[in-house]
Amino acid sequence: MATSSVRMPSEFSNPNLEVLLSEQQLQTRIKELGAEITRDYAGLNPLLIGVLKGACFFLSDLLRAIDTRLSIEFMAISSYGSSTRTSGEVRIMKDLDVPIEGRHILVVEDIVDTGLTLSYLLANLKSRGAASVKLAALLDKHERREKDVKIDYLGFPIPDYFVVGYGLDFAERYRNLPFIAVLKNPETAS
Ligand code: IMP
Ligand code: MG
Repeated sequence: MATSSVRMPSEFSNPNLEVLLSEQQLQTRIKELGAEITRDYAGLNPLLIGVLKGACFFLSDLLRAIDTRLSIEFMAISSYGSSTRTSGEVRIMKDLDVPIEGRHILVVEDIVDTGLTLSYLLANLKSRGAASVKLAALLDKHERREKDVKIDYLGFPIPDYFVVGYGLDFAERYRNLPFIAVLKNPETAS
């Protein structure tokens, strides 16, 4: 390929980002969670439900660290509010394609912030007759919690920063970063 004299800006070393959790830290912790889930769900044929879009990255790495029979589904949920804050109003935009009665469900989410989205989703899934409903979340911003949500498998607790990367976005940007970073100045981000 011909080399161009115009240098394209790097997204991964964008000066507006400060790395909070490196790729190595994420992958190491995800392998530990996978081993724990493997032990807890052996023989239960769990159904892992990824919440679109943010959790796809965590789900795909976590899946490959779980060594037992399982299947996956996706749901899409919209919560209204600004790009950095949730309003609390929740709606299912894409529902499951399969019944979950009698199944062991593990919801996989990128981050629990106020807890409004997850408390709605977990209650909704329980009401469908699942044998069990548990939650794996990569990040927990506990300080911001408004609704109690039990996180059964947690990657990392984090302070109240707006973070991006590894699936998490700011106005759909930054999902492709292989690490988690604090967005230093959201006003100049897009
Ligand atoms: P909750 O209902 O307030 O717990 O919001 C959860 C959702 O808000 C997450 O699934 C994310 O999509 C989004 N969110 C919360 N905090 C952040 C953040 O720091 N960066 C990116 N998205 C976030
Ligand atoms: Mg989300």
